[in-house]
Amino acid sequence: MNEMLEKLSQIGVVPVIKLTNPQRDAGPLSDALCAGGVPVAEITFRAAGADEAMRIMLERHPDMLVGAGTVLTTEQVDKTIAAGGKFVVTPGLDPDIVKYCQSKGIICFPGCSTPTDYHTAYKLGLELIKFFPAEQSGGLAKIKAMAAPFSMFKVMPTGGISLKNLAEYAACPVIAACGGSYMCPDKLISEGKWDEITELCKKSVEVFKEAKKNG
Ligand code: 3PG
Repeated sequence: MNEMLEKLSQIGVVPVIKLTNPQRDAGPLSDALCAGGVPVAEITFRAAGADEAMRIMLERHPDMLVGAGTVLTTEQVDKTIAAGGKFVVTPGLDPDIVKYCQSKGIICFPGCSTPTDYHTAYKLGLELIKFFPAEQSGGLAKIKAMAAPFSMFKVMPTGGISLKNLAEYAACPVIAACGGSYMCPDKLISEGKWDEITELCKKSVEVFKEAKKNG
């Protein structure tokens, strides 16, 4: 198991984050995540300045697993690397971007949701794939069905996951970690409600670990 996969599995949840004001919010948000036992952040390029947000978080918490989400271009991969980002998440599976990441030595978790995606990911030598959008693509039932022919993968489902269904997903052995924006909602970020984000993180870790133990 590669080191990144191991670390993500230990934490269990990956907050998917959009920051419109990285200068103001990236620092306190990284404190809130770490205080909640979730030293990981997927900063999406849905807002400009994702690389700035990664840089700020990593200056403050160098050991945090900070990476980029919603990566659609190789330029965004370059920006992620320049900011010190440790991983790249893409919504779909673009072999060119995966190969580009591999050539640059940064790990990529592409979004996969069909047997064709999984097969392509297999040919690219990937170990961990993002199953996206999880709920809308068939949820846990589909993840389990895909694990029959593609038992080599660990999966990180994202899309429609919240505290309501986190335990069900976490109990599935092929699931290494679950991603979601629910831990860092726009409203809590814009209002600076960092304690509430810390609580959501703590609760998520607790639910994930409990479900894995009993799963
Ligand atoms: C993502 O990009 O991973 C998803 O948009 C997150 O999905 P969610 O908002 O339903 O958690």
